[in-house]
This record gives sequence, C-alpha cells and structure tokens, in this order.
Amino acid sequence: MASILDMAAIEAAARRLEAGELVAFPTETVYGLGADAENPTAVAKIYAAKGRPAGHPVIVHLAPGADLDHWAQDVPPQAHQLIAAFWPGPLTLILKRAPHIPDAVSGGQDTIGLRCPSHPVAQALLTVFKNGKGGLAAPSANKFGHVSPTTAQHVHEEFDSDPDKRVTCILDGGQSEVGIESTILDLSRMATHGPVLLRPGHISAADIEKVISISPRQADAQAPRASGTLEAHYAPRTPVALIAKDEVNETLAKLARAGKRGALIGSSEVSAPVAARMSMPATPEGYAHDLYAALREMDAVNADIILVESPPVGSEWQGVNDRLRRAAFDSAGLLERMVSG
Ligand code: TXA
Ligand code: MG
Repeated sequence: MASILDMAAIEAAARRLEAGELVAFPTETVYGLGADAENPTAVAKIYAAKGRPAGHPVIVHLAPGADLDHWAQDVPPQAHQLIAAFWPGPLTLILKRAPHIPDAVSGGQDTIGLRCPSHPVAQALLTVFKNGKGGLAAPSANKFGHVSPTTAQHVHEEFDSDPDKRVTCILDGGQSEVGIESTILDLSRMATHGPVLLRPGHISAADIEKVISISPRQADAQAPRASGTLEAHYAPRTPVALIAKDEVNETLAKLARAGKRGALIGSSEVSAPVAARMSMPATPEGYAHDLYAALREMDAVNADIILVESPPVGSEWQGVNDRLRRAAFDSAGLLERMVSG
C-alpha cells in the first residue's frame, strides 16, 4: 500500500491504468475502483470485480482543468457555473456524452457522469495518468450493493479474499473526508426537465440552487438510471432497521426477550442488553464521515440486527438519511417478526 502522495506508487498506478488494469484509489467521498474510461475492456474489468450487472453507468473522474468538451456535448451554462463553484469536489454532473466516448462508461445511455475529485492522491493520479488528459471510470470500490469503502483497509476487506485477485493495486489516502458518495445532478435534459437531483450528498439541493438560481427536482421515472438510486443499496450483511430515538430502549429489550442480539448506532442511553454500539457525531458532516465505517464495524459483530436511531431530518441531512434508508430497505418487517417472536 502506498501512503499519501507517494509519487512513485502513484506513477506506477498510472502506468497500470494505462495498460488497462484496475487501480483502487481514494477520493474525498469514498474509495473508487478505477479503469481507463476510454478502454472498454478495462471498464469491463470493473463490472467483473464488483459483480455489478452490465448496463449500470459509472462516473468518469477528470483531472483539474480537464477539457469538458472531450467528454460531453451540449453542455448547458449551468454546468459551467456549478463546476466553477464546486469542482474539485463531491458533485457529479450527468451531461450528454460526446459521440466518440465509448458507451461502456454509461451503460449504453447517451449521457456521461463526470466529476473532478478534490482528494490529493486522486488529483495526483489523474494528473499523471495519460498526462492529465484521460478519465478514470470509477464506481465505489466495493462489491455491488455493499457498503462503500472509506479507507484502504475497507477496500482490502472487499477484494483480498477473491480467488481471481482482480484488485491488487490499492492506493492509500487515509480516511475519506466526506464519507458518502457524491451528489449526482442530471443536466442532460436541461431544456425539458431542468436540473434533476439523482442522488443527494454533501452538496445539497440548496447549495446548487444558490449557484444556478433553479431548485433541482427530485428524480423521476425517466431520469437516467443510477445504481446508487436502487432501493436496496449500501447495505451491510446484517439487516439494518431505522427506529425513532424514543423506541430504541424498548426495542432492544424486546429483542433480548426474543433471544436476538441487537447492535445499535445512535446516542440514546440504553438499559437493555446491546451486542455492540457506536455513538455518532451530531453534525451531518460528522455523521456522514463516520457512517460507512460504523455500518462495517457493527456488521462485524454478527448481531441479528443493527438498529439505527433515526438522525434528524432536514435538507443538510438528506444524504445521510438517503443512505440509511437504502441500507435499511426491506428490514422493517423483519424487525417486527423478530420482536414478536
Ligand atoms: O462519490 C462518488 O461518486 C464515488 C467516488 C468513487 O467518486 N463514486 C460512486 O460511484 O459512487 P458509483 O458507481 O458507486 O455510483 C455512481 C452513480 C451510479 O448510481 C451510476 O449509475 C451513476 O452514478 N451514474 C454514472 N454515470 C451516469 C449516467 N451517465 N447517467 C446516470 N447515472 C450515472
Ligand atoms: Mg457504489
């Protein structure tokens, strides 16, 4: 593993990517599993390593100052305004794809997802890869549907036991600062639909509205498909249930009476037995930063269920609540069945 700004390791990783191999690298949101976006054979290796169904588009990461017109066409003025305001940073823009860019990166759709990450290791890698003129297709560096990695160790846990050893080069950039995936904004149908928020994140709808003076709409049925928007996603192996703060203690007591082990993510005082617990920061930024590591840690104790005390609602909590809702998808009925014996 390379440490932060180990330029020799970053150069070596860039050469591997240029040769069509995979490299996992840190970003400020989560770790990505990268491949040369203009090499469809290399992009196909990402799908194989993740176990991700074909037809799911991947985000293309660009170096600071990259030529947008190489990747996209019919770029609306709002894209330039948002790029000036938020790049490098955790905002992905969906634009019309330039005709010569292989459709492997967009799952056959006529759009492309672009973002310029702010993490220094990601920036250094993108700057040496193809002399800063290339793009790295990179979804989160985890198995399909699983919790995204926010440390290099998480990436090792995802892939080290694979018999085919598809992911062997992992750059270490410490813990991801933001902790949840980038905000995704669709600008590819600006004329007919306006800006559409496909995935909430650290950059909120209100932040976007301040820059372009239009409030983004929530995703509709015709919006470009995004796997991060599937209902069940970001889930640990142990079922997750979201519950109100004032129900935490009673629920843990009921689980104990039913002979079940409940783990807890939340700050409530509890007197009932708990298999393991983690308190979370009170701010949305702090909560997002710790969220995926907390889910992984609670997953590791092999409880029957992970209870998550519902965080506050409100626009700045939208990204956190979105990921929790997806992690807990389908488990509400399960909790009911567990406590009723
Ligand atoms: O923060 C992030 O965005 C991280 C880091 C590594 O940059 N990446 C990430 O990638 O979350 P992934 O593949 O796990 O999620 C990317 C989301 C997916 O839901 C994908 O379907 C969507 O972006 N996406 C990418 N290109 C798209 C396109 N052309 N149209 C619609 N959705 C697209
Ligand atoms: Mg993902």
